[in-house]
Amino acid sequence: SRRVIIDCDPGVDDSIALFTALGSPEDIDLMAVCVVAGNVPVTTCTHNARSLLALAGRSEIPVYEGCDRPLIVEPEFADHIHGETGLGDAVLAEPTVPAQNLGAVDYLIGTLEAAAPASITMVITGPMTNFATALQRNPAIATAVKELVIMGGASAAGGNITPHAEFNIYADPDAARIVLACGRPVTLIGLDATLQFRCTPARMERLGASSHRILKAATAMIGHVNKIYGEIYGDEGSALHDPCTIGYLIAPDLFEAQEVAVTVQTYTGETRGQTVVKPSPGSDFRWVTGLRAGTLFDLLIERMERL
Ligand code: BDR
Ligand code: CA
Repeated sequence: SRRVIIDCDPGVDDSIALFTALGSPEDIDLMAVCVVAGNVPVTTCTHNARSLLALAGRSEIPVYEGCDRPLIVEPEFADHIHGETGLGDAVLAEPTVPAQNLGAVDYLIGTLEAAAPASITMVITGPMTNFATALQRNPAIATAVKELVIMGGASAAGGNITPHAEFNIYADPDAARIVLACGRPVTLIGLDATLQFRCTPARMERLGASSHRILKAATAMIGHVNKIYGEIYGDEGSALHDPCTIGYLIAPDLFEAQEVAVTVQTYTGETRGQTVVKPSPGSDFRWVTGLRAGTLFDLLIERMERL
């Protein structure tokens, strides 16, 4: 199984991604959870990461708190979607294991400096501030990265935080530009793909029918976002954006991707955070365009039920 660092802002869908990764030891050897400001302030995200690991019985996995604000732009949160706590309607037990004293940026630098070339997979499901800051301090750490699998961006689908931009990129476009240019293979899973992965009423019912503690937590989290989505978008259910990254690592055959070049609009105008995606045959930068939602959902449930 491959060595993976998850850098996230939990966050409802980040939580589902984390559970799925934890339930997949044959595919994913989770080294650490790094946390960044995004959906909610970083201290809240860190608390959530610790609670999620505790619920999964995996508190031995270290949590590193990272950047509390973007590189340049002002912080913007998404608590209007994820709820004030970031975990929707889920109420989790108070975690007992503290976060590490070392910060996420220092952890990333130290770990990647010491690692063999192309040995660690970076999964990023929040704004990319932590890894961007690490790369600014030592660009050579990129060589230790095997590949990056990132939830972010939007092309044909249009944005979710503005008509042009997806939240993770919008929240720190300068960080996104640095990370996406780090020179290692990238798979970017944006809204074009993730909006095809909805937690529909039928899927919600399946989750809700389970008495498994992880699926119960997932139901309370996603149920909250579905209520919000119901108000904003109708009744198709909310998209499970971030778990697509873990799904891609476990079962890449469920996804369709194109070789592309991507540029990020970093200036703070109307198109701030927009990703411009152009075909580029032979590139090791992949833009995911489609996925098999039914099979992917089955896989998530199967993996989470193992915890
Ligand atoms: C992304 O933004 C966040 O709110 C979600 O957790 C996901 O990472 C979707 O645009
Ligand atoms: Ca996220």
